[in-house]
Amino acid sequence: MLREAGSADARAIHELLLTLSAGSLRRRFTGATPTADRILQLSRVGAGVVSVIASADSAPGEVVGEARFVRGDDDPDDAAELAVVVRDDLQHRGLGAALLDRIVQVAAACGVRRLRADVMVENFPMLKLLSRYGMVVTTPAEDGVVGVEISTDGEVLGWPEHTCGPKVLVEGGSWVAGPEMQRLLATGADVRQCIGPKPAWGRSCPLLTHGRCRAVEDADEIVVRLQQGESVAEEIALRRPPRP
Ligand SMILES: CC(C)(COP(=O)(O)OP(=O)(O)OC[C@H]1O[C@@H](n2cnc3c(N)ncnc32)[C@H](O)[C@@H]1OP(=O)(O)O)[C@@H](O)C(=O)NCCC(=O)NCCS
Repeated sequence: MLREAGSADARAIHELLLTLSAGSLRRRFTGATPTADRILQLSRVGAGVVSVIASADSAPGEVVGEARFVRGDDDPDDAAELAVVVRDDLQHRGLGAALLDRIVQVAAACGVRRLRADVMVENFPMLKLLSRYGMVVTTPAEDGVVGVEISTDGEVLGWPEHTCGPKVLVEGGSWVAGPEMQRLLATGADVRQCIGPKPAWGRSCPLLTHGRCRAVEDADEIVVRLQQGESVAEEIALRRPPRP
């Protein structure tokens, strides 16, 4: 059973977080060990926090999974920060995917187009889940944590409205910034990275499937680093509108 949470559900969300194994807690809080106060604070709902919770029919008062987005004071109206968590004994059964689907719908209905998350590069289940929502890498991995954004409208994300520097799309490459990526970032370019099609993750390339990709259309420059994506590289060369 999935439903939107209210402030009265904060206690049950807090109890869910307290049941998490050390590994799940570490992944939820991207490596840091949260203090008791921090866990309590991140259980709250309302005041910029929108939450969807999952419960079993047999125990409706108990929360077994949660997805939330948080609109920070500095966030533009169309962006928010995302987090998802599922109780350890119920992971890997499709609940995370169901929660993510629902929170993406709720976010879209609230006018949020972009959901960003900091994810540990070892957190394969979370990255796999996010990769189905037009995920782009916005910050290469540092200390094992990568910054990503997903879109709530089913398309690959382009750039936010107010972008500084030239928009450079890197197709492929690794989570960590190699020397070439570091040089690119040092130029002041607004670099976004697409991980390319990953059939094993259920992620396709919209250029190949629909002939359109917002990131390709928005980009001022495209750097192709795909290892097994020659067809995407050819498609980029064909479809990219000529730049003045
Ligand atoms: C990330 C998390 C929310 C995913 O929830 P989940 O219910 O386990 O995910 P699902 O069962 O919906 O699985 C999603 C995909 O990941 C895969 N997956 C899930 N757990 C996996 C595991 N341990 N190993 C390999 N693949 C896994 C599934 O196969 C599934 O792919 P599929 O749809 O092709 O089968 C859950 O693992 C979790 O709570 N982790 C700890 C907190 C966290 O990391 N939060 C994210 C940081 S914001």
